[in-house]
Amino acid sequence: MNPRPIPTRTLGHSGFEVGAIGLGCMGMSWGYGAAERDEERSISVIRRALEIGVTLIDTSDMYGPFTNEELVGKALEGVRDEAVVATKGGLVVDDPETGELHRNGNPHHMREALDASLLRLGVDHVDLYQLHRVDPHYEIEETWGAMAEGVALGKARALGLSEPTLDELQRAHAVHPVTSVQSELSLWTREQLDEILPWCEEHGVAFIPFSPLGRGFLTGRLDAGGFDADDMRSRFPRFQEEAMARNQAIIDGVARIAAAHDATPGQVALAWVLAQGEMVVPIPGTRRIEYLEENAAAATLELGAHELERLDELPPAEGERYPDSYRP
Ligand SMILES: NC(=O)c1ccc[n+]([C@@H]2O[C@H](COP(=O)([O-])OP(=O)(O)OC[C@H]3O[C@@H](n4cnc5c(N)ncnc54)[C@H](OP(=O)(O)O)[C@@H]3O)[C@@H](O)[C@H]2O)c1
Repeated sequence: MNPRPIPTRTLGHSGFEVGAIGLGCMGMSWGYGAAERDEERSISVIRRALEIGVTLIDTSDMYGPFTNEELVGKALEGVRDEAVVATKGGLVVDDPETGELHRNGNPHHMREALDASLLRLGVDHVDLYQLHRVDPHYEIEETWGAMAEGVALGKARALGLSEPTLDELQRAHAVHPVTSVQSELSLWTREQLDEILPWCEEHGVAFIPFSPLGRGFLTGRLDAGGFDADDMRSRFPRFQEEAMARNQAIIDGVARIAAAHDATPGQVALAWVLAQGEMVVPIPGTRRIEYLEENAAAATLELGAHELERLDELPPAEGERYPDSYRP
């Protein structure tokens, strides 16, 4: 049985109407334990997403590297127009084993990277092309200007940036309109609420929270110490056993509110993110249809003002987002 499609939101100035919850495809090819990867299953997840109205599909050339775009391309065969396809360039993987990478905002690189992404995705344009990280070796105007050429040539419909500072965001916007900012936002990572999200609201720019489930932690279903060595969370401070034990207080608070709605903690975590503003479209990542459907259902979960306040008051996360050895 097909559930009713989820509610929609408009993606910034782009005019794209997307499901209020999108789908992050990173974990299908990168980052979270290779043992759980399954290309066929992931393709089914993407296809099911489109059926239920989860239409913003997020990938990057660095996931794999490269193979995630190919996977997304296969999933989109015959249904490309049902999706709002978002990819990224500007981060280059040096060593897939260790995940070592560097930023490359060279305008020449960005032009080539967009062309290569189109080929891997099997599309003649992407809807949203995002700068994965600003490279301090280049003026943002140069990098962004090269990306804007891609829009003029019809290779991308709109542009976004990931994790920019406010200054970088404003400088880019002065060259070519910023359609979206993709940065980490969740109940345990709230820095974006200070100035970036208000700026997006003021300028009609979409805000796409990445890792809105706290890389799975906020679902309450992760086992401390249960990560394979190739799962990047095994190296992340917040996922070390002691930090996870302390961070359990966050899940306990989320779970109390979930129980009142007969919802799951993950759904409450997503509903809280959606409640941060109309410009927000989170992209939870999953490799499982059951999780996809559960996450999509969060788009209709309404939290009361008092509940949102209680969530706002939860303790901050114990542990940094990234280890010193990994700063994308
Ligand atoms: N711009 C950037 O720099 C950046 C950085 C990170 C991520 N992203 C994007 O944001 C997307 C989402 O972020 P993320 O994948 O890091 O983190 P996330 O969405 O917060 O969490 C993903 C993790 O949660 C698990 N999960 C998902 N739904 C679940 C559910 N209902 N119950 C239990 N577990 C569930 C997934 O497991 P399974 O996979 O096993 O289903 C996966 O381990 C990525 O896919 C990527 O597109 C962008």
